[in-house]
Amino acid sequence: MAAYYVTTPIYYVNDAPHIGHAYTTTAGDVLTRWRRQRGEKVWYLTGVDEHGTKVQRAADAGGVTPQEWVDRLVDQAWRPVLETIDAANDDFIRTTETRHREGVRRFWERVRENGYVYEADYEGPYCVGCEEFKLPGDVITGEGGEQLCPVHGRPVEMLSETNYFFKLSAFTDALIAHYEANPTAVEPVSAYNEVMSFLKAGLVDISMSRSSVSWGIGLPWDDKQVVYVWFDALLNYATAVGYGADPDSPEGAMFANTWPADVHLVGKDILRFHAVYWPAMLLAAGVELPRKVFAHGWLLVGGEKMSKTRLTGISPEQITDHFGADAFRYYFMSAINFGQDGSFSWEDMSARYTAELANGLGNLASRCTAMVQRYREGSLPAPGESTDAEKSLQQMLVSVSEKADAAMCALDFSTGIGHIRSFVDAVNLYVTESEPWVLAKDEANAQRLDTVLYTIAESLRAIAVLYHPVMPTTMRSLWQQLGADRMLGPIGEASVVDAARWGQLPAGAPVTKGDALFPRLEDPDA
Ligand code: ME8
Ligand code: MG
Repeated sequence: MAAYYVTTPIYYVNDAPHIGHAYTTTAGDVLTRWRRQRGEKVWYLTGVDEHGTKVQRAADAGGVTPQEWVDRLVDQAWRPVLETIDAANDDFIRTTETRHREGVRRFWERVRENGYVYEADYEGPYCVGCEEFKLPGDVITGEGGEQLCPVHGRPVEMLSETNYFFKLSAFTDALIAHYEANPTAVEPVSAYNEVMSFLKAGLVDISMSRSSVSWGIGLPWDDKQVVYVWFDALLNYATAVGYGADPDSPEGAMFANTWPADVHLVGKDILRFHAVYWPAMLLAAGVELPRKVFAHGWLLVGGEKMSKTRLTGISPEQITDHFGADAFRYYFMSAINFGQDGSFSWEDMSARYTAELANGLGNLASRCTAMVQRYREGSLPAPGESTDAEKSLQQMLVSVSEKADAAMCALDFSTGIGHIRSFVDAVNLYVTESEPWVLAKDEANAQRLDTVLYTIAESLRAIAVLYHPVMPTTMRSLWQQLGADRMLGPIGEASVVDAARWGQLPAGAPVTKGDALFPRLEDPDA
């Protein structure tokens, strides 16, 4: 079975990660886990971009070689952040790895053989923050008349060098035709429109190598130059799954099975590279195009993109140390529409944590397990007759899980989570209205109490499954408290598509009251 292949950008290791990077990786992880729980085989790749001027200069400033710089940051910051946010990636690629270097050289050799590489002079502006040759319309004029990069707010550098060009202009029409035939190949619609208008203005050729940079992958045909960092980095998506390997080798088989990527998740800052340059490169080499590029919005600080270059990053640990990884994942996937910009605020996150997680879901879980313990000695009772209240909850669960599935598959995480949350709210209301603590006072209501307790526990069983891709650790713990691991097996294997089928948690399931799923938190400033 071919795998559903998801990627994140590979991040520059000029500095440690901030929550912007963790944001993309979290989104990829939620998508990956959701699709795995639909029974699909998924391959999830992330990694780091280690070459180029930006990394070279950071290493120089740190007084070490670029290799030492990247080795240290990858070990101390970029790999650990995956644990911080609980990412279940299958692979992690570094562009200094042999598999990547060889694949890149093979790829450009092929593109050159196909006639799309020539030598010429480049003269023009370059932004080291973006690692990008800027076009005339890309720069803004600062107060003193200097030319600035609009993303980094810093002066661009004037470059003048002889290097090799990629015949990008040859692909204008082919890319327009491709996107006209595949209107969902770039999402959201705003990103699609931006790409189309860029293409319709016509593409110009672009340098694919640098002669004044040494930290990179040497050109196979001219060892005095290195591959331009973007034309090295983009290839990670292919080299990581075996591009260039012998088709009869395991790596070659992996490529045949995995390529093309189903979705490249990127921030909107790097849309043009992914939706224009990357597919043009692939066309030039005769490789199939990815199925989708999804450009999400920016986490903003004071109205500007949070950035390493601007030194405005908040580290993911700062948030997870206080709220936990699951709350981090939940907050960023639910509070910001994927595709639009958003701001992080400690107050907003605290408010949502308390209302939606601690009081909403956490309280529901602890009431349920406490009541099954107190009233039924921790053994889940078999339900009696359902009334309208139970039937309408069951129906709501069916519709909520269908809508959540559609939204999650469409990368609309906040809508998907919103559907699941609406069910949590409905179950809380059901508890309030059915008053199990009143029923418990009179033995004549024993069967009714059984029905109510069963309904709450079975609802939580479904909630645990549906929320597991978003909050894997706490939902595993809820699953255990419900006795579902003993009765139904590991939660990671529970199908999200089948979650609404009522009656899966069997009577007799051992229900235990564990630690609070979302403990109440002290105000960090108090
Ligand atoms: O561009 N808000 O690496 P990079 C949301 N190496 N997402 C953000 C963000 C923010 N404020 N800041 C960063 C590069 N990101 C290249 C990519 S891929 C072949 C090469 C996320 O370290 C978002 O995904 O600048 C953005 O596109 C990416 O990090 C840029 O990371
Ligand atoms: Mg950047």
